[in-house]
Amino acid sequence: MLFNILTLLGGLVAFATANQTRIPRCCNALQSIDELRGKVYLPGSDTYADRMETYFSKSAALEPWCMLLPSTAEDVSLIVKDLVANNCPFGVRSGGHSSHPLSNSVEKGITIDFAFISGHMNATTWNPDTGLVSIQPGGRWQDVYDVLTPHGITVAGGRAGSVGVGGFLSGGGISFFAASHGWACDTIANYEVVLADGSIAYANAQDNPDLWQALKGAGANLGLVTRFDMFPIELAGPSEGIIWGGNMIFGSESGSDLINALVDFTDNVYKDENSSASVSFSYQPKLAGGMVGLVSIENTLGLSKPKAFNGFYGIGAALNDTTRIDTMSALSRELSEGQPMGFRNMFITASFKNDPRPMKYALDKVNKLNAELEEITLTLSANFTTVYTVQPVTKSIIEKSIAKGGNVMGLDRYVDDGNGILFLLIVSTDHAEVERLAIPRAEALVRDVEAYAKELDLEREWKYLNYAHGSQDAIATVGEEALGKLQAASAKYDPHRVFQRLRTSGFKIPRDK
Ligand SMILES: Cc1cc2nc3c(=O)[nH]c(=O)nc-3n(C[C@H](O)[C@H](O)[C@H](O)COP(=O)(O)OP(=O)(O)OC[C@H]3O[C@@H](n4cnc5c(N)ncnc54)[C@H](O)[C@@H]3O)c2cc1C
Ligand SMILES: *[C@@H]1O[C@H](CO)[C@@H](O)[C@H](O)[C@H]1NC(C)=O
Ligand SMILES: *[C@@H]1O[C@H](CO)[C@@H](O)[C@H](O)[C@H]1NC(C)=O
Ligand SMILES: *[C@@H]1O[C@H](CO)[C@@H](O)[C@H](O)[C@H]1NC(C)=O
Ligand SMILES: *[C@@H]1O[C@H](CO)[C@@H](O)[C@H](O)[C@H]1NC(C)=O
Ligand SMILES: *[C@@H]1O[C@H](CO)[C@@H](O)[C@H](O)[C@H]1NC(C)=O
Repeated sequence: MLFNILTLLGGLVAFATANQTRIPRCCNALQSIDELRGKVYLPGSDTYADRMETYFSKSAALEPWCMLLPSTAEDVSLIVKDLVANNCPFGVRSGGHSSHPLSNSVEKGITIDFAFISGHMNATTWNPDTGLVSIQPGGRWQDVYDVLTPHGITVAGGRAGSVGVGGFLSGGGISFFAASHGWACDTIANYEVVLADGSIAYANAQDNPDLWQALKGAGANLGLVTRFDMFPIELAGPSEGIIWGGNMIFGSESGSDLINALVDFTDNVYKDENSSASVSFSYQPKLAGGMVGLVSIENTLGLSKPKAFNGFYGIGAALNDTTRIDTMSALSRELSEGQPMGFRNMFITASFKNDPRPMKYALDKVNKLNAELEEITLTLSANFTTVYTVQPVTKSIIEKSIAKGGNVMGLDRYVDDGNGILFLLIVSTDHAEVERLAIPRAEALVRDVEAYAKELDLEREWKYLNYAHGSQDAIATVGEEALGKLQAASAKYDPHRVFQRLRTSGFKIPRDK
């Protein structure tokens, strides 16, 4: 604690001294490194202002003392060495899709920004020689797919194309290929990562295998990943990147039917691991005039209406059905367009066993939350939307992770306990006061749903890092075994706990007991 206070004072002290350096000490030190010339941006510069506009959620867009936009792993190495030498607090971002304050950027410190800018770290390269796809953290999935499609391949990446590579892969990653390949991080063959001492390390099944496993789901707790080498996935339709999928929209009266169909899908998807589904309840008072139920379904072999989705087709006529054979790029673009940026967003998560009761209970509570937010926004003449999503985390997904070398997401402990459901609630608004009033209500809703699941003996402690709210200590929920691996890797590769002490954004490994 004392250490942190000194760090913060140290960072600001330059404001009070030499006029010529009204720049915080930490930024000044970085600016004096030759190799980083033109990569340090202060408030007032165009690049700084442009980067502030690229956060998915306005609530996350905190203004740092300065931003650093590295171009190479060597730059990242210099940055880490300098920040450590000068005790400078920092945050880390790639695509900027994490939603809550201090999830990626920082106010008191420096944001290391893997920017989506040519010449910085956003490249995707297919290497037929190694058989791997190399992806830099600043890329976005849309562009990764666009680069890979002409080669007839893809990777297990984000479903919405706007999502960033770095955060998605460091937190786990649910792709269209979850049932057939496990979590996206399970398909990473090799990491290039800058460690706390500034060294550039490689982690794969042969070299530093403990680090390789511990990086899968660790967030930024062990180092800054500068390149992900992923196993490719071959898609049907040579050179076309074809899959089948889209969204079916139902009226709110179909809520129970959709939940029942998802429970059934989850229990049977092991028979068709190329199919995936998630169910969402989207409330858009001004846009769609209320609540709709939406099921996103995909088949990565490009097969139309496979049997796995019979439950959803049995519900009756959909209000709209965009399912079709199309490129993966086109589908990921459709999913991005359905989730616009520029609002104040909150993500909050939970998980439980595959059973309709907690999902229906939550739907009822979400309806009540929507009614309350409706009243709040009326008096403030503001807007809001909510999306409540449920999706499968099956036993066979967990088995895929284990077979591919394991990760530190902590799901192994549920493998004998059957299929599970991942719950996500998103609240979006254009008004800070609505957000302030919505956050405790959403937190209470999640606590309520968790208590209900517990009563029925359906609870799971695990919180998905990429969906967790800042108030949810996500890494503390991975269970003893995964936490032990993370702590051991941290003690070995970051003995001074740089990524817990100086990194002030993102989730952290709790201290060893
Ligand atoms: C519209 C939308 C759609 C989404 N769809 C999906 C989905 O289909 N599946 C899914 O699983 N999730 C999904 N998510 C959640 C998403 O995975 C997380 O928000 C993720 O953090 C986004 O990655 P990013 O690079 O954009 O994040 P950022 O906000 O830039 O980074 C988040 C955190 O990741 C870590 N990080 C980033 N870069 C690095 C790096 N180079 N090295 C080490 N750590 C790093 C840091 O701790 C950082 O704080 C979605 C989110 C949104 C907003
Ligand atoms: C101090 O800094 C301000 C703003 O950067 C500048 O306008 C002013 O000329 C400086 N004064 C001196 C004495 O350097
Ligand atoms: C890198 O970012 C630029 C935007 O500056 C974009 O035009 C380019 O396509 C991106 N490259 C890749 C491989 O995504
Ligand atoms: C389809 O599923 C099988 C079995 O899980 C898997 O081996 C294969 O890679 C998958 N193919 C695609 C294109 O998803
Ligand atoms: C269905 O969705 C598509 C794509 O969003 C849209 O173009 C179309 O107008 C919608 N149709 C109906 C009947 O709502
Ligand atoms: C709410 O949305 C409507 C249109 O959807 C827009 O006209 C209005 O300005 C928005 N309100 C605020 C406070 O932004």
